[in-house]
Amino acid sequence: MKDPISLEMEHIHKKFSGIAALKDVHFSVKGGEIHALLGANGAGKSTLMKILSGAYRLDEGTIRLDGRKLNLNSPRDAKASGIHCVYQEVDAALVPQLTAAENIMLDQLASSQGGWWKSPKVLQQRAKDALKQLGADNISIHRKVAELTLAEKQMILLARILIQEAKVIIFDEPTAPLSQEETDAFFRIVHLLKDRGAACIFITHRLAEVTNHCDRVTIMRDGSHVFTGETSGLTINNLVTQMLGKPFEEEFPKTEVPVGDVILEARELRRGLKVRGVNLEVRRGEVLAVVGLVGAGKTECSRLLIGADQLESGEIRLLGRNVCLSQPADAAALGIVSVPEERRKQGILIHENVERNLSLPILSRLSTFGFINRKRERQHADSLVEQLGIKTSSVKQEVKYLSGGNQQKVAIGKWLHTDADVFIFDEPTKGVDIGAKSDIFRIINELALAGKAVIYFTCELDEGMGIGDRIAVMCEGTIVKEFKRGETNQEQLLYYASGGVEVEE
Ligand SMILES: Nc1ncnc2c1ncn2[C@@H]1O[C@H](COP(=O)(O)OP(=O)(O)OP(=O)(O)O)[C@@H](O)[C@H]1O
Ligand SMILES: [Mg+2]
Repeated sequence: MKDPISLEMEHIHKKFSGIAALKDVHFSVKGGEIHALLGANGAGKSTLMKILSGAYRLDEGTIRLDGRKLNLNSPRDAKASGIHCVYQEVDAALVPQLTAAENIMLDQLASSQGGWWKSPKVLQQRAKDALKQLGADNISIHRKVAELTLAEKQMILLARILIQEAKVIIFDEPTAPLSQEETDAFFRIVHLLKDRGAACIFITHRLAEVTNHCDRVTIMRDGSHVFTGETSGLTINNLVTQMLGKPFEEEFPKTEVPVGDVILEARELRRGLKVRGVNLEVRRGEVLAVVGLVGAGKTECSRLLIGADQLESGEIRLLGRNVCLSQPADAAALGIVSVPEERRKQGILIHENVERNLSLPILSRLSTFGFINRKRERQHADSLVEQLGIKTSSVKQEVKYLSGGNQQKVAIGKWLHTDADVFIFDEPTKGVDIGAKSDIFRIINELALAGKAVIYFTCELDEGMGIGDRIAVMCEGTIVKEFKRGETNQEQLLYYASGGVEVEE
């Protein structure tokens, strides 16, 4: 048998504008293993992997593949050495107007060498075979990629990687937006790639994925390597302690808050196939958790509540009065604000700096005679950065350079000092580390304590149970069941979320 692939990264250093993101990092991975790479938001995981995939240049250090030193100046160099990656933002790697087959064979199509194997028939057959091997042959190779779901698009990328016989595959949080079933299907493929001898590097914030699927784990903290070892024998608690550098207990601290009058009410909301008659209400000081599987219609429902999409029928009442929301700005003006699921596209201005993102909703308050008071803007941003523990080199840093989880904190933080009454969160903890997650729960508690009403849409049932005063279960576009806090459990929620019906006793 051939020796397994071995990849080593040694003494890796990387600075951004003089600030160290990676300090003397060591990382190694072997063929035939799934190696988890863990760390809190901003620990440097993506940066290390961008160096390995040729997207960033390292300042110092060496990378060796099977003992041979690599000089990676571009993603093309990395691919030529057999290093590939699957990011969460799959769209960047796909061409939506092309078919599934063309996307799978994209690199072959783009290469300058011709030959018999470039005939459409041969390419299609190879694409089809690849999907079959992945157990994803339900995807027609003739479909345009634009029409596929996120999970299907990921399959296209995986099929491409399979054909290219990748040696090293980097997975940067691919499972964060997937449902449990999709995640299981995804891992079956990671195991298949591992069994074929690939070295698989897996980044995730869902720690159960590490203990269930990964052979070894490397943990980073503040840009440094802190631990590498076998996962067998490690508990989630061990992992968290290493990640945060301190023991961590409470994930869902919940403060009891007196509940007041109804602030927001939705009656029979309908739009398309996804929202089919939603009724809900939320009171002052109350957190309503709406739980449901991926695809249940939660995002679509939350978009109606903030005017991002228009109602086909139904009513939204704020403090007893009917309101008509044509756009999110209308909702914000009335005191209904949201932290959307796709923060990159909707929640934040990616090319603006942290300070401006945080101050935008209250610019008028920070201005005198139409001029922004820079000092107050600065103070406001500094205090939010401190309050939320946003990891950034300075408030002047552009948000696009923040790590994923820290971008999420900015998307939440910008609303905190507004005088909004209703806060709508759609999957706010996606891609957020466990420490930051508990910060977000703390913030939600503080909002409730200040008499705000919170609606929290999530597919993580335990989060819903942890944070909600009431837990509403959504399935196929309607609320099918509601529970008070403490009166339900995960099995019961899952039963109703997956279409279970009430049995008369
Ligand atoms: N292009 C860049 N310019 C400036 N700073 C950057 C850049 N890329 C990353 N950083 C900084 O480097 C640090 C590490 O970021 P990185 O994205 O590697 O974190 P991460 O471990 O992947 O976090 P997450 O779990 O949130 O994705 C962060 O402080 C980030 O702001
Ligand atoms: Mg990252």
